[in-house]
Amino acid sequence: MRGIFVTGTDTDVGKTYVATLLAAQLTTSGIKIIPRKPIESGCSPQHGELIPSDASALKTAANYQGDLSEVCSYRFEPALSPVRAARMAQQKITIEQLSHVCKHNTGDGFVLVEGAGGFYSPLAEDGLNADLAAALQLPVLLVAHDRLGCINQILLTAEAIAHRGLRLAAIVLNAKDQKNNSAMDNAEDLREHIDAPIYTFAYAQNNDDVIEGLGKYLQTL
Ligand SMILES: Nc1ncnc2c1ncn2[C@@H]1O[C@H](COP(=O)(O)OP(=O)(O)OP(=O)(O)O)[C@@H](O)[C@H]1O
Ligand SMILES: [Mg+2]
Repeated sequence: MRGIFVTGTDTDVGKTYVATLLAAQLTTSGIKIIPRKPIESGCSPQHGELIPSDASALKTAANYQGDLSEVCSYRFEPALSPVRAARMAQQKITIEQLSHVCKHNTGDGFVLVEGAGGFYSPLAEDGLNADLAAALQLPVLLVAHDRLGCINQILLTAEAIAHRGLRLAAIVLNAKDQKNNSAMDNAEDLREHIDAPIYTFAYAQNNDDVIEGLGKYLQTL
């Protein structure tokens, strides 16, 4: 299976932001993207259905013609960790179930999977985001909030990815708010410790060149 597992150093660091831009870029350049956000909590009820916002954004960005239920098969309303939200709904979701929906009906497409939270965040009754990435054997795209302290989080996550025998494909340093210190250069500092390519996304700006570069690179994996 060709694709990428998008994870983060934490929740709310910009995984969906980066993944949707990437999905749109790759789709425009003729790549068939299969988006998957297999489990999502914090869904909003609409007309008797729970709507997963990340999965919906990924589906739209990828111009995916399949059903939203293929993109996100397990949806829960409470804005809690997916495992806790599932338990509240008397459900026990397994990594095997999540892996199955990520692999199902993918054909020869490029599968773009977004986990939930960070690499070691619990994702199912029997495992973490890391376990789903390992079950899928996909290279990992690590998104981090580009701020003071992110190097520690990135290096810890990189070690965890290596520990699972997975490839750290690239790191995205995502400025999801205004930098308050222009002398900070996390990309430069990170390069002293890590070989994977580093892509820097600016805050609220057109990052087209960076996304194009990242898209082209991911196709070479
Ligand atoms: N480079 C950026 N510029 C401006 N806003 C951004 C940027 N990156 C992320 N954001 C905003 O930050 C918020 C969090 O981003 P996003 O939802 O992509 O995080 P996430 O890691 O996918 O979160 P979750 O763990 O809930 O899935 C969103 O409102 C998003 O639009
Ligand atoms: Mg998200």
